[in-house]
Amino acid sequence: MRIDIISAVPELLSGPFNSSIIRKSIEKNITEIHIHNLREYSKNKYKSIDDYQYGGGAGMVMLIEPIDKCISKLKSERDYDEIIYMTPDGSKLNQSLSNKLSCVTNIIILCGHYKGIDQRIRENLITMEISIGDYVLTGGELPAAILTDSIVRLIPGAIGDETSALTDSFQDNLLSYPVYSRPKEYKSWQVPEILFSGDQKKIEKWRMEKSVEITKKKRPDLL
Ligand code: ADE
Repeated sequence: MRIDIISAVPELLSGPFNSSIIRKSIEKNITEIHIHNLREYSKNKYKSIDDYQYGGGAGMVMLIEPIDKCISKLKSERDYDEIIYMTPDGSKLNQSLSNKLSCVTNIIILCGHYKGIDQRIRENLITMEISIGDYVLTGGELPAAILTDSIVRLIPGAIGDETSALTDSFQDNLLSYPVYSRPKEYKSWQVPEILFSGDQKKIEKWRMEKSVEITKKKRPDLL
């Protein structure tokens, strides 16, 4: 899968993709992530990419031309399944959306800034608008990194243990069951005895019951 991220502050994106799973999936050629500096598509000598909004009011607007130029260049090189704009007023990101996006071939993610992007970009070029939650960040870079992480870890081969991503919280709309590792006893805190029974069927049943119990308690809205 190829992900192209368009940003006015590309430095913000250099860190997150150097972490283990994403970096490994890039090294294994499972994922390509390309970051594009929007300022390189600005035609004025100050490389500005924003301007005052028509009609007055506080806050700058990201200009139509640099964004259109960058997206048009990418589209002339390959087809894209989705052109996504990260914005607090988009559809809320959830596991099912990440699952869907992990199955496509090429996506563009546009990071917003300031007051937002010129509406004509949203109406004519963007195919999907995504929010990571009901709060406002200074820009779309961190949301883009979160979206990318949630997608890349689902691409087959990205995570070593293939079944691991499938048993995450939110797959099947349930939160994850509790997990334990060594030592068996710590400061008299015990691991549930069932996990040592060797009876895989019983363990699976216990895990499912725990998932339902935890979901009921913490996120009844998911059930
Ligand atoms: N840009 C700023 N805040 C955001 C959010 N909550 N989700 C997506 N993009 C954003």
